[in-house]
Amino acid sequence: MMMMRHGGSAAINTATLLAKKGLLGAEVAAPNKWGSLVIRNGSTFAANLSDQKEKTTSSQGSAGANGGNKDEKGIMSYWGIHPSKITKQDGTEWKWNCFRPWETYKADVTIDLNKHHAPTTFLDKMAYWTVKSLRYPTDIFFQRRYGCRAMMLETVAAVPGMVGGMLLHCKSLRRFEQSGGWIKALLEEAENERMHLMTFMEVAKPKWYERALVITVQGVFFNAYFLGYLVSPKFAHRMVGYLEEEAIHSYTEFLKELDKGNIENVPAPAIAIDYWQLPPNSTLRDVVMVVRADEAHHRDVNHFASDIHYQGRELREAAAPIGYH
Ligand SMILES: [Fe+2]
Ligand SMILES: [Fe+2]
Repeated sequence: MMMMRHGGSAAINTATLLAKKGLLGAEVAAPNKWGSLVIRNGSTFAANLSDQKEKTTSSQGSAGANGGNKDEKGIMSYWGIHPSKITKQDGTEWKWNCFRPWETYKADVTIDLNKHHAPTTFLDKMAYWTVKSLRYPTDIFFQRRYGCRAMMLETVAAVPGMVGGMLLHCKSLRRFEQSGGWIKALLEEAENERMHLMTFMEVAKPKWYERALVITVQGVFFNAYFLGYLVSPKFAHRMVGYLEEEAIHSYTEFLKELDKGNIENVPAPAIAIDYWQLPPNSTLRDVVMVVRADEAHHRDVNHFASDIHYQGRELREAAAPIGYH
């Protein structure tokens, strides 16, 4: 018998999800009154209790792949519980701490890439032309270095979801009201964009001046978007919708360069293969395809959010597209 002590309802959901997905060969029992969850039958997901007692100091798993922890000595455990050991369906060890098997998915690459929200109102046109005008300096700076361009733009793309999610979170607290799932949906978007960055930084390394540019741009963009979202969430979401339309275009250009042979179609980074459940022999081209599909989903989510505001409603009144990939 195995036992997970922490996590409460989140752990229950996780374990149930795993069982549903066949990732956990376990029988999940009801939680006891302390929020503990009892799992039977040899799952690798929950650490064995006897193991936990033995290992007051333990390694944190494959450190290099898990976020740059180079200390092979491991970290002293606070409560003596060994970190959960998770395996892939093929039995090999799951090596990412930054995301888990139940957070992975197969991207829906059949999504309509040409869908465009035609700007009609003054605010929409302002959002549209703001994005279009940002395109020119970006084109000049990056030229045809699409790998580098993707990596740099993802550092910006991961900001709006986090800012929007944070503001909705605070609003929910202030007003004692539910969010309709929009906090989670926007934070999911931010996380997904950050995973794009984690992927592209495996194939393009930022130079020192690019790092400096990212810091500067983040300082400006975070604050500008924060204020913009406070003043007009419908403008903020519309602008992100148009940014995503541009992202789709950029990734299409990236694919063209790959197909022409101007960019080497290197093997897909391991993190991408696991995150998007890609076949082991996937290439950079496959990765760009799924990332582009993600951007199309973000486009839809943000135009939808803006439309809700345009109708004089609040986001919480419409069910959020959680898990929309
Ligand atoms: Fe992205
Ligand atoms: Fe995006």
